[in-house]
Amino acid sequence: MQARTWIGFATALSLFLCCAFVSPKDGEPTYAADIRPLIAEKCLSCHVEGGMAPFPLQSFEQVKKRARLVWTMALSLKMPVCNASSDAGEFCIGGPFTDEQLVLFQRWLAAGAPEGVATEPLPSPGKEWRLGAPDAVLRPVEAAPIEPEGRPFWRTFVLDLKPYKGKRIRAFDVRVESPQVLRQATLGFAPDGLAGANRGRAGFPTYGTLSHYTSRVFGSWAPGYPVWQFPRGASLPIAADGLAVQAFYLQRGRTEPGGFEVALYFSRDEGDREVKTVQTGSMDIQVSAGSTVELSYQHQFPGTVDLIAIVPEARFYCSDILVTAPGFRLLDTRKWEPYWVGVFRYREPIRLAAGSEVSARFTIENDIHASRNEVTVPRPVSGGYREAQEANYVNLVYCDAR
Ligand code: HEC
Repeated sequence: MQARTWIGFATALSLFLCCAFVSPKDGEPTYAADIRPLIAEKCLSCHVEGGMAPFPLQSFEQVKKRARLVWTMALSLKMPVCNASSDAGEFCIGGPFTDEQLVLFQRWLAAGAPEGVATEPLPSPGKEWRLGAPDAVLRPVEAAPIEPEGRPFWRTFVLDLKPYKGKRIRAFDVRVESPQVLRQATLGFAPDGLAGANRGRAGFPTYGTLSHYTSRVFGSWAPGYPVWQFPRGASLPIAADGLAVQAFYLQRGRTEPGGFEVALYFSRDEGDREVKTVQTGSMDIQVSAGSTVELSYQHQFPGTVDLIAIVPEARFYCSDILVTAPGFRLLDTRKWEPYWVGVFRYREPIRLAAGSEVSARFTIENDIHASRNEVTVPRPVSGGYREAQEANYVNLVYCDAR
C-alpha cells in the first residue's frame, strides 16, 4: 500500500517535473514569449474588458480559445482595425501583422498553441484620461440612450466653449460611456447660430458630414486609436462659442448610454504656431445608376506648411479615398468604411514645400453590389447632406512652417 502510494507520488512528481520544465522545442513559438507581446501591442486598445470589441484578449485562455479566428482575421487584414496608411506609416496603434509575425503566429498554432511559461492576464487600461488631468472637460447637456436596433446614425452636439475663448488647444481626448456604440467623433468649431438652444441640447442629425456645417473641422477620435495631440510648439486658438462634436453611433442589440465627454488641454506657450484647417471637397456630385466614378479635389498651399492630420468625410457610396502630395501618399484607405473610420494624424507632421498641391481622390461606386447604402434597385446618386446622398470632403489640419 505504502509502496504503491510512493510509486504514485513518484510518477506524479516525474510527470510534473517533465512537463513543468520541458521547454518548448527549439525555436517553437510560445504564447508567453511571442504571441502575448503582439496581442498587447496590436489588439489591447479595443479587446479589453469593457472595451469596444465584443470580447477581451487579455489572458492566454481568451486568446487560445479564439486562436484560429484571430489568425484568420490577422491574415485577412481585418484585425487589428487599420483602415488606412500613408507613406509615413500606419495610422492605427501597432499596425497590421507583418509577414514574419503572421508566420510566427502560424507556427504557434501548428505547435498546438503552447503557453510556454505561465502568464498573468494583460492589465486593463485605467479609467483615467490618457494625457492626465485636463484643463477643461465639456459634456453635452443631454445625450439620449442608444436603442438596441436600427440604422447606425450621426448626431452633432454643440458644447459651450465660451468660458475658454482665447485659450489655445494643444491636445484633446474623448471618453465615452459606451465604446461599443459610440464609434467615432469628429470635432470642429461651430459657426455662430449652430449652437441655437434646442439644437445644442440633444444634438441634431448630420449624416457623416460635419464639414457641411463648419469649415473648421480640426480633429477626430475613435476607440482604440491614439489620442489627439498637436505637435509640440503648435496649438489651436479657440475662436468660437461652440465646439461641434459629430458622434457616430452603432446599435449593438441592447440599450447603451450615448454620453461622452471631451477633455481639452491648453498650451501656455505664447510662441506657438497656429493650427489651421483648409477644406477641399464638394457635394456637387452626380453619379448615374450602376456606374463608378472618381472625383478629385485639389488644394494648393501657397507657403511651406507642416501637415498635421487629415479628417476625411464621405458616406456610403464611397469605396476608397486617396490623398496625395507630389510623390507622397498622405492617406490611402484600404477600403472606406463609414462605420469604421479611424483617426488619421501623423506621428510627425509632414513638411510640404510652398506651392505643393494636395489632391484628394474619392472613388464612388454606385452599383448595388458595391454600395453599402442598402439600395436594391440602382438609381442615380446626387450630392447632398442627407443620408441617401453622397458628400466628399477632406479637412487638412496644418500649421505654417517656421
Ligand atoms: C480599433 C479596435 C480594435 C482593434 C485594435 C482590434 N479589434 Fe478585433 N474587433 C473589434 C471589434 C469592434 C470587433 C467586432 C466586430 C464588429 O463590430 O464588426 C472585433 C472583432 C474581432 C474578432 C471576431 C471576428 C468575428 O468575425 O467574429 C476577432 C477574432 C478579433 N477582433 C481579433 C482581433 C485581434 C487579434 C486584434 C489584434 C491583432 C484585434 N482584433 C484588434 C475591434 C478591434
